[in-house]
Parts: sequence; structure tokens; C-alpha cells
Amino acid sequence: MEKKIKRIGVLTSGGDAPGMNAAVRAVARTAITFGMECVGIRRGWQGLINTDFMRLDAATVGHIINRGGTILYTARSEEFRTEKGQKRALATCKMLGLDAVVAIGGDGTFRGALDLSRLGVPVVGIPATIDNDIGCTNYTIGFDTACNTAIECIDKLRDTMQSHERCSVVEVMGRNAGFLALYVGISVGATAVLVPERDFNLERDVVDRIRNARLAGHTHFMVIVAEGVGSAVEISKQIHEAVGIEPRVTVLGHIQRGGAPNARDRETATRMGYFGVKALAEGRSNVVITTRDGGIVETPIEEALQMTKHLQMDRYAVLEAVGISIPQDHND
Ligand code: F6P
Repeated sequence: MEKKIKRIGVLTSGGDAPGMNAAVRAVARTAITFGMECVGIRRGWQGLINTDFMRLDAATVGHIINRGGTILYTARSEEFRTEKGQKRALATCKMLGLDAVVAIGGDGTFRGALDLSRLGVPVVGIPATIDNDIGCTNYTIGFDTACNTAIECIDKLRDTMQSHERCSVVEVMGRNAGFLALYVGISVGATAVLVPERDFNLERDVVDRIRNARLAGHTHFMVIVAEGVGSAVEISKQIHEAVGIEPRVTVLGHIQRGGAPNARDRETATRMGYFGVKALAEGRSNVVITTRDGGIVETPIEEALQMTKHLQMDRYAVLEAVGISIPQDHND
């Protein structure tokens, strides 16, 4: 018979994402509602190795649903990748009486969760990363807020680029994926967007588009570069050589990870936290809580780690269709 879960640990690991606190709150509050205790493990998997924890009760997680970052702190632990580190983490689980661990983060976090589950600790993963690059889920907590933060910054940049009639090259995060860049690029009406999923061709993807925009009378240009494509500084040099204009470069960087989570991230994080604890209460574990077709489903963690997600290139076609192009002849 399944062992009844009495006490769970919750941790955040990897890059922080807006909405992680909302997920922590939902995990702790749902656990309490279901008659369990909840312990916050600080600094991700490293905290489990070091027995770095805090008691979470209903009040401790009050007033955090609206806060960016993570009250549990986060880290990327090399030590947890080793057998020795994992055994120390297991010893912490035993010492703290943790019957299960809920891990909030990205693929790296889930790989850690899988390792822990193989040592006999039931786990649940909750996907949170601004990159939205986790194969098993349509959506990851933090993505929408990060998009909006980038959009707000780029709208401001546009004011000054327009006034000076300049070209802006903006580098956005996303690790090896172009989700953030493409969504942001569409939303700011970028002249060009470069994503790692598409082979980079300077002439086709940037130069022609700037020339077309110029011919259509535009005097400022916005080029969005996903960090996975390469350095915005380097690309701006290439634009300078090819078109003769000297772009200004902005690397948005970690600002994209901060700020209060928006409605989508608070709501998704709260639902995922709830469903994660519900799964444990009902005897299911070693799953990632994922979104699919608007609903929440559990995906076995091993399967989840095998899954890949592709950037929807039809969105790229949308970007191109609504961008500036030379008017075409129509036979009407
Ligand atoms: O995964 C989130 C992310 O912000 C990526 O977009 C980026 O490549 C990476 O983390 C940056 O990591 P760090 O905070 O360690 O510089």
C-alpha cells in the first residue's frame, strides 16, 4: 500500500522566474489543506544537500503571490549531480521526515528530481522558466511576465530610436530557444527577429528587411536577437557593414527575470501548485505538472525529460507577413 504523505519539501531551482513564489504558496497552502506539513528547502538541490530549510505555514507564504524572485532562493547545484551529493540529499530527506519533494524549475531541476526519485523519494516537478523551453508542457511559469517586461523595455527604446531615427538591436534571453524572442518580436512589431531555430542569414533576415522598411519610408528599425543566436554586439557590427547604419545595442539581461508576476503566471502557478500536491495526496508521484490544450495534466517525469518542444514557425510567418515589405503587384 502507498505510504501516506505527511510532510513534503518544496524547493525552487535553476534560474528564477516570476510566479515561483505563487507556486510555493500554492504548494504550502494546499498541503496544509490536505492535512500535510510543508518544509521549504532553500537554495534548490544544494539546500537539500546542506539541510538548508525553513518551516512553511499558511502565514509564511502570505503576501508572496505578488512578488517576483523566490523567497526560497535558488541555485544551480553541481554537487547534486554526483552520487555523493544525492546521498547527502537523501539523508536530509530522512532527517527532515520528508515523504515527498516538489521541485519548481526547468529541465535541470527535473533531472535532479528524477535522480532523487530513483533513490526512493517521491517527487513532483512544476515547470517554471522564462524560456518556455520545456518539452512536456505548453507553458512554463514566468514566460508571460518576462515577455511583458521585455516589451515594456523595448517600447521605451522605440521612443528614443524613433526620435533619433536609429536602428536598435536588442538581445533577449531564452537560452537555446527562441520563444521569448519571437513572442516579443511579434508584440513590438519588430523589423527583424533572429531565433536559434532558424538558420541565420544576415541578408535575408535583417538587411533586406531594413531596406524594405527604408523604402517604405521608415526611419527607425528594431531588430530582436535571441541570445541563442549569438551576440547582439556582433550582429550589430554586421548590420553596420552591410547597411551603413550604426545600430545601438541593448542587452536586456536579467531584468527579464524580475518583477511582479502577471495574472497568467500567478494563476498558472497556483493551479500547478495545487495539482502537484493533489497528485501526491492521491498517491501519484514522479510526474511533472504540465499544461496541455488549456488543461493541466500529469506527465511521468522520465517521459517529460525525453520530450522536446519546437518553436511554432508559423508564428515566424506571421511576423514576416505583418512586417514591412515592398508592396507587391496584384493582378486585380
Ligand atoms: O533559464 C533562464 C535564463 O535566464 C536563460 O534565459 C539564460 O540563458 C540563463 O538563465 C542565464 O543564467 P544565469 O542567471 O546563470 O546567468
